[in-house]
This record gives sequence, structure tokens and C-alpha cells, in this order.
Amino acid sequence: MLVAPPEYPEDPMSSPPPLAGGPQGPQALRPLLETTLNALAEGATERDGPLPRGGPAAVEARVREAAGDLLPAQGTGADDALRTLVAAVAAGAADPANPLCAAHLHCPPLALATAADLAASALNPSMDSWDQAPAASALEALLTATLAAEVHGGPPDAADALITTGGTESNQLALLLAREQAAAHGHHPHVLVGANAHHSLRRAAWLLGLPEPVTVPAPAGVLDPAALDEALTELPGPPGHFLVTATAGTTDAGLIDPLTDIADLCATHGARLHVDAAYGAGLLFSDVHKTKLHGLDRADSVALDLHKLGWQPAAAGVLTVRAAADLDVLGHRADYLNADDDTEAGLPDLLGRSLRTTRRPDALKIAVTLKALGRTGLGALVDQVCDRAREFADLVAAHPGFELYDKPAISTVLFRPADADDDHIAYVRRTLLTDGTAVLGRAQLDGRRWLKATLLNPHTGPEDLAALLTLVEGTSPR
Ligand SMILES: Cc1ncc(COP(=O)(O)O)c(C=O)c1O
Repeated sequence: MLVAPPEYPEDPMSSPPPLAGGPQGPQALRPLLETTLNALAEGATERDGPLPRGGPAAVEARVREAAGDLLPAQGTGADDALRTLVAAVAAGAADPANPLCAAHLHCPPLALATAADLAASALNPSMDSWDQAPAASALEALLTATLAAEVHGGPPDAADALITTGGTESNQLALLLAREQAAAHGHHPHVLVGANAHHSLRRAAWLLGLPEPVTVPAPAGVLDPAALDEALTELPGPPGHFLVTATAGTTDAGLIDPLTDIADLCATHGARLHVDAAYGAGLLFSDVHKTKLHGLDRADSVALDLHKLGWQPAAAGVLTVRAAADLDVLGHRADYLNADDDTEAGLPDLLGRSLRTTRRPDALKIAVTLKALGRTGLGALVDQVCDRAREFADLVAAHPGFELYDKPAISTVLFRPADADDDHIAYVRRTLLTDGTAVLGRAQLDGRRWLKATLLNPHTGPEDLAALLTLVEGTSPR
């Protein structure tokens, strides 16, 4: 059935534009979605690759031209604004759905998760009080209990989880929980991070006013347990005073720290353990790969991002805690959101579920995805990208013109043209970016620069991997 597009008056004050919610919302959205989807297709066709051609200046010029006057006296109407700006942003996108866009932990979102995210935007629940999000908060509670049990096991409700904006916020919260636990015993915590840890952990320590973290060597790309033991033995302070942070899925190489050894050391020294599994935790869904995370359940807190190995549009971060009571310190009162008498009368108190106030219902898209695909469906996606990474590594290793860093632990492959110097590696990457032909990352490991392919696209095929290598091979200094 054809639906007439809503009319946009010349004077927007005379009649407000239609809303996304309510019984009429879907009717108003339908034609706008048609325009939006057409503009997405138009932009992708114009780009015709993983990245726009021409580098920053060309992209900026295209965007400026489409945007024109961004705050005109008279608006151009919904159809024109959606068409021109969505098409311009799509034409200038780095598209992780293209198999040759493989630089970062930047996954292609599943269509079904994106559809659920549209529903979240239309309903616009805000997760800071029950009267703004009755069903969305109930669904979030089910989801966080499910994910906490998935990571930590144990009896029902022993563990808990919070939805976050990603690994950065999860790591900040983990340090905050450690700080508060140490403070309860009159201590300031000392944070230990591997030399391979994500930069957000050091930043979190700075933000929270904690001492500069102690760096534990990671000579082979993973935290060295002997060095951790030494650091925990030598650092002054009573048990309960240390927070060890380990990584399951390093940003640069996708490597997994020896979690069981680290958990044992933490138990011996009475240290709290946080595992940044922002990348690696998705392996839990795979029967083939979940053994790589042995010991993860023993962590006091775990960061996991479903906008990495989980195919969600950003943001879909989660922080799990093994002891649900650890989250009590986040409790907070604001009379307009969780007055004592409302809570006593049975209205759920949501304010302690985040440090944010207004908060999107990111739980909806995650819950829809878990339910639609199930453990088997998600596990198959994980297996697929891990298989592709292994195949790409084999291709590199078999090619006399390339050097492979190591076999991938998850889905990251580091490689470099043999005999190339570091400047040449950077040049190759930038040339591919400017040509718009491939998006590869870079990493500095073992004192050398490497090209990084982070394979997160389950639709990538062997022919794409061969094409990627051919592109790099064909990029010599000009
Ligand atoms: C290991 C690790 N932890 C944390 C983060 C930060 O995650 P986000 O960008 O979602 O905040 C990243 C980002 O790539 C990461 O690789």
C-alpha cells in the first residue's frame, strides 16, 4: 500500500512536523525511511568501495556542498534534508560492511540489530527512571542478568552487569568499583596494567585521581605472569589494595593474556582482577573458541563490547561483575528520578545502573540479536571471522613478499611487506586510504610497524582476502 508522504509546511511553527512515536509514528516514519534507505543506497553506489576516494579534503568538500547552509531561515523540508545529508554521509563513509574495510574493531552491524535500534529511537525510552522506560528497563534487567551469567556462571543473580557506551566506560567503571572497594578498607588502590593494555585504563586512573598505574611487561604481546608476580610481591600495601587489569583481545594484535595464571596470582596476592575483554569476550558464544577465555569467569569485573565481536551498531558495551553487590556503590538519589517513597512503593530504581542520567535503551538491539541468532548463530559468526583471519594469515605466510607477525588468536592479522621499512608501511596504509581502496590499521610491536587487518565481517570470503593482499602488494612508494 502506498502511503502519502507527510507534508512539511513552509513555516515549521504553524504545524509541528510528525513524531516518531504513538499510533501514527510508524505511518510518519515509513516514507521517511524509504527516502533514507534510498539515500543510503545512493551514497554506497557513489562511493563504490570501502572508503571515499581523495582523502580528507575531497570528503570535506562533498559534505560542505551537500550541507549548504545548515541553519537556513526557512528549512528545506524532511525529504531534501534526509536525501542530501544521508547520501553525503553514506558516500563518505568508511563502510565496515565492505570486506576491504578492516582497520579497527569497528564491526559491520547486523541489519536486524539496526532495525531494533530504529525502534529504540522511535520509542526513545530513557533508562534513568522507570516512568521513562517501563518495559525497556525490564528487558535491560533480563539482558544484564543473562550476560552476567554467561561471563561468570555461578548461581542465579550472583553476578550482575551494566550496559555502557563501550570498553572505555566499562574500564572506567571497573577502576571506580576497585577504588571504592579499597576505600571501604581505608586504602587507595594501586592499579597494574600490562604494557599491552588499552589506553583507556591509564586515562581512567588519571580521571579517578588514582596513582599512575604500574606497567607490567608484556614481552610477547601478552602480560607476563612472572613479571606480575614480581610486581605484586614488591609493591607496598596490604591485600585488597591492588587492581590487576588483564586483556582478552588486545587492540593491536588480538592476543589474550594468560587469564588462569593471572587469576591464580590475584588470588595469591589478594588482588582484585579486571579483564578488559572488550574484543575477546565474543568468543564465549563459540564452542570452538570459548576455551581461549578459560579463567575469565574468575575476574571480579569484565568489559565486553558487542559493538566489536557482536555485530551491534555502536554503542553496545557491557561491564559484568562477579559479585552483584559490587555495584551498590553506584547507588544515588535524585528526588525527581528515584524518590525513596517511590522506590519503597515498588518503582524500580534505575539511577544506580549507570553514571549517566539520560541513557539510550541499547539493550533492545542486543536482546533482539541474542534471541534471533541464539548461541549457535552468534557462535557461527565468531567462527567465521576467526576462520577468515586464519586463512588470511596462511596466505600472508605463504607469500614470499610478505612477513606475518603471528598466527591470529582471534581475528586480527598483523603483516608487512618483506624488506619494507616503517615509513613504507605507513605510506602503504595512507595510499590505500587516499585511493579509497582498502582500510587497514597500523600497530607498533616488537619495535617495528605492522599493517593490521581486523577481520570482523562474516561475509568476507577467501577472494576478498586475496584481493586485499594484491592491493597491498601493488602499492609501492611513488
Ligand atoms: C581492548 C580494548 N579495550 C577497550 C577499548 C575501548 O572501547 P570503546 O572504543 O568501545 O570505548 C578498545 C577499543 O578498541 C579495545 O580494543
